[in-house]
Amino acid sequence: MISQRNGARRWWRDAVIYQVYVRSFLDSTGDGIGDLAGVRAGLPYLKKLGVDGIWLSPFYPSPQHDHGYDVADYCDVDPVFGDLAEFERLMAAAHRLGIKVLLDIVPNHCSSEHPYFRDALAAAPGSAARARFHFADGRGPDGAEPPNNWHAMFGGPAWSRVTEADGRPGQWYLHMFTPEQPDWNWRHPEVAAHFDHVLRFWLDRGVDGFRIDVAAGLYKHPDLPDSPDPEADARARDSVNPLAWNQPEVHDVWRHWRAVCEEYTTRDGRERLLVGEVSVPTAREHARYVRPDELHQAFFFDLLSAPWDPDAFRKVISEAMQDIAGTGSTVTWVLNNHDQVRTVTRYGEPVPGGSGLGSARARAAALLMLALPGAAYIYQGEELGLPEVVDLPDDVLTDPIFRRTGSRARIRDGCRVPLPWSGQASPFGFTPQAEGAKPWLPQPEWFAEHATDRALADTRSFWHLYRDGLQLRASLPQLGEGSLRWLDTPPGVLAFVRGDGLVCAVNFGTAPTPAPVRDVPLLSSTPCEPGVLGGSTAAWWITDDIATD
Ligand code: NOJ
Repeated sequence: MISQRNGARRWWRDAVIYQVYVRSFLDSTGDGIGDLAGVRAGLPYLKKLGVDGIWLSPFYPSPQHDHGYDVADYCDVDPVFGDLAEFERLMAAAHRLGIKVLLDIVPNHCSSEHPYFRDALAAAPGSAARARFHFADGRGPDGAEPPNNWHAMFGGPAWSRVTEADGRPGQWYLHMFTPEQPDWNWRHPEVAAHFDHVLRFWLDRGVDGFRIDVAAGLYKHPDLPDSPDPEADARARDSVNPLAWNQPEVHDVWRHWRAVCEEYTTRDGRERLLVGEVSVPTAREHARYVRPDELHQAFFFDLLSAPWDPDAFRKVISEAMQDIAGTGSTVTWVLNNHDQVRTVTRYGEPVPGGSGLGSARARAAALLMLALPGAAYIYQGEELGLPEVVDLPDDVLTDPIFRRTGSRARIRDGCRVPLPWSGQASPFGFTPQAEGAKPWLPQPEWFAEHATDRALADTRSFWHLYRDGLQLRASLPQLGEGSLRWLDTPPGVLAFVRGDGLVCAVNFGTAPTPAPVRDVPLLSSTPCEPGVLGGSTAAWWITDDIATD
C-alpha cells in the first residue's frame, strides 16, 4: 500500500475546493465583470454541486494589469468587485451553507500603484522607502544596463528603469512578472510586518485560509547575481532560476504564517488552510514546503501537466504519494486552473464539435482525480465540460503574456471566458441583460451547449458526473484521505483500490476492454455494460472480489 495517512483527520486534508475566478463567475451589476455579489448568488449552485469550499481569485483594489495579481491594497475590495460589506455578506452566506472560503494572497509582488511602491518612486535612491523593494543602480557607463541579466516570467527583462525627481533616468527595480508588479524585498522587516497585518485582517473577517501565489518566490539571492541561463524562466514559463526562486529563507515565512493560523485555531478550534502555488524543480524540494510546521498543502501540478497516457499518470500519482509521505500533508490534485488550457481541449479536440474524445477523456480524468487520496481543486467551468476558447481575436486579449511577448502561445484568456449560466446567446445569464452590457471577454455561441441550466437538466452532463462523484466521495469512507493500491491491468488501463474495496479503473485507449470488476459500476464517465470498460472511460465499483492489504 502506498499510504499517506498521517496525523489527525482535518477538513482540508481531503477537501474539494472550487476555484472561483471572480471576474468570470457571475456579474450582478451589468458591467460585464463578475463580482462578489455574483459569487454570493452562485453559492446555492456550488452547494448543490457539493464542494467543500471556494477559493476566490484576487478581488483587491488593483489596476488589473494581471487580473488582480497586481495588488494595490491588500485589505480592501476593488469597487469593480464590490466592497468590504459585500465581502462580509458573502462570507456569512458561504458559512451558512457550510462552504469554506479561501482568499488568494499575493506576497511575492504588489502593484506599481501600491502606496509603498509609489512612496519608493517618489523617494531618493538609497532611501528607506526604496528598501522595501529591489532598487539597484544599473550597469554600464550611465547605468543604462539593468543590474543583472534576469528575465521576467512574462517576457522582457526583469528590471525597469525609473525616472528620478530631477527628471533623469535613475535606478532600476526588479519585477519577476510585469513591470506593473514590483517584487517585494522580503529581507526588509516591514514587508513581513505588512503581510502579518494582511493575514490577520482577513482571518479576523472569518476566512478559512489562503491560496498563496508564487509561494516559492519572495526571497531572491541576496547578491542578485547574473544567471547563467537568464531565459530559463521565460522559456519554461516556470520559476526555475535558482537565484530568483526557492531561497531557503522563504521557509521561515511559511513557518510564521502557519503559527499565525494555529493561533486562530487555538482560539476557536477551526483549522485554517495555507495552500501554496509552489513551483520548484524537484519533488523533494516540493515536499519541503509542506513540512508539518509550514504550508498545509502545495498544489501538485504534475497531474495537470501529464499527457493522456497511463504510464505518465501512474508515474505522477505514485511519485506524488511517495513525496508527500511523512510530511503530514496530503496531495492536492489539480486538473485545471486559470493559467492552463482546459482539459477538454488539452486531451483532445482543439475546437468544440470535434470527435468528443477530449470531453470523454476529461470526464474520465475527473473521476480518476476524485478517487485519488487527498484534496482536489476544481476550476470553474470544469464541471460544465467547458473547452478552451481558442479563437479569441487579438484585440480582446488581456493576458500580459500576449502584451509582453506578442505571442498567442500559452496565453490564458481562453480559459477565463465568463461562464454560461442560461439561455441560447451571450451573455448566457452571466451578466444581467442591460443595454450595452457584454461580458469582458466574448463568449462563443457554442457556450449555449454548456450553460448550467442545460447541464443541470441533463443527467448525462459533466455537471451530474461531478455532482455524483462528489456525493459519493462525501459518503463513501473509502474515498478522500487514505491510501491506494495499484491493480494489475492490461496495457492502456490503470486501476487502483481504495480502502476496503473501492476500485477505480481508467481505460486510456479508445477501444472497450474487460473491466477489472464484473458488476455494473457505481459511477462511470460513460455508460458501461457489466464487465466492460468503454474506451476513454473511468468507472468506480465497490467490490469484495478484489483482495486488499
Ligand atoms: C500565478 C497566478 O496563478 C497567475 O495567474 C499570475 O499571473 C502569477 N502567479 C503572477 O502573480
